[in-house]
Amino acid sequence: FDYDLLTGRHVVITAGPTREPIDPVRYLTNKSSGKMGFALAAAAAEAGARVTLIAGPVVLDTPNRVERINVVRAEDMYQASLDAVEKGCDIFIATAAVADYRPTVTADHKIKKSTEEIHLTLVKNPDIIAAVADHANRPFTVGFAAETQDVIEYAQGKLKNKNLDMIATNDVSGTDVGFNSDNNALTVIWPNGHKVLPLASKTQIAKQLIELIAIRQG
Ligand code: PMT
Repeated sequence: FDYDLLTGRHVVITAGPTREPIDPVRYLTNKSSGKMGFALAAAAAEAGARVTLIAGPVVLDTPNRVERINVVRAEDMYQASLDAVEKGCDIFIATAAVADYRPTVTADHKIKKSTEEIHLTLVKNPDIIAAVADHANRPFTVGFAAETQDVIEYAQGKLKNKNLDMIATNDVSGTDVGFNSDNNALTVIWPNGHKVLPLASKTQIAKQLIELIAIRQG
């Protein structure tokens, strides 16, 4: 691992889940622990980069020499990401599992359990990485895709639709890789090539992905 690979570069990483409030005590979220994104932040810092880690609600320690911005909702993650891109960064890596939808309204008070059924109306959250990739000040943009079937096909679709430079896909149908596990396995895809990073610890996988990004970003 080259400890000078990203010297002088600013890397921004989103990590963890987002939390979309229903009322003051309830929310919608997903299974992301933040481990993959935090491992990437540590690897990028070890490679000499200045690192900004935009983290959803997770219980992990901030890696050494990493600036952390805590956010809760997808809209907060969107704002923090666009602010960072506006100020200027070279590489943006989106490992966050952003909640695709949020409740249309957040109740001011705890909702009472008075009826058998309640109905939540949801509205789509902004697509953070697509906005970053469309920005005039566009960094080298790397997405993640977590799928349970047709992993490569769906990832290729996201690479194209979201106008990304690279996408790292993981199969989350089992429990040995992906969400919450300490290990992962990735197929990394770019417009005219791909590389398989076989099962390893998220720390190892992060170093390999950072190397690949540094090479492709040039
Ligand atoms: O946190 P861990 O427990 O370590 O688990 C890691 C992980 C499995 C969450 C991670 O490796 C991963 O795969 N993250 C992406 C999860 C996902 O399913 O993303 P997506 O298919 O919803 O979105 C594709 C890409 O667009 C991602 O880069 C995502 O961050 C981004 N996105 C999605 C929606 C949205 N509104 N804004 C976004 O930026």
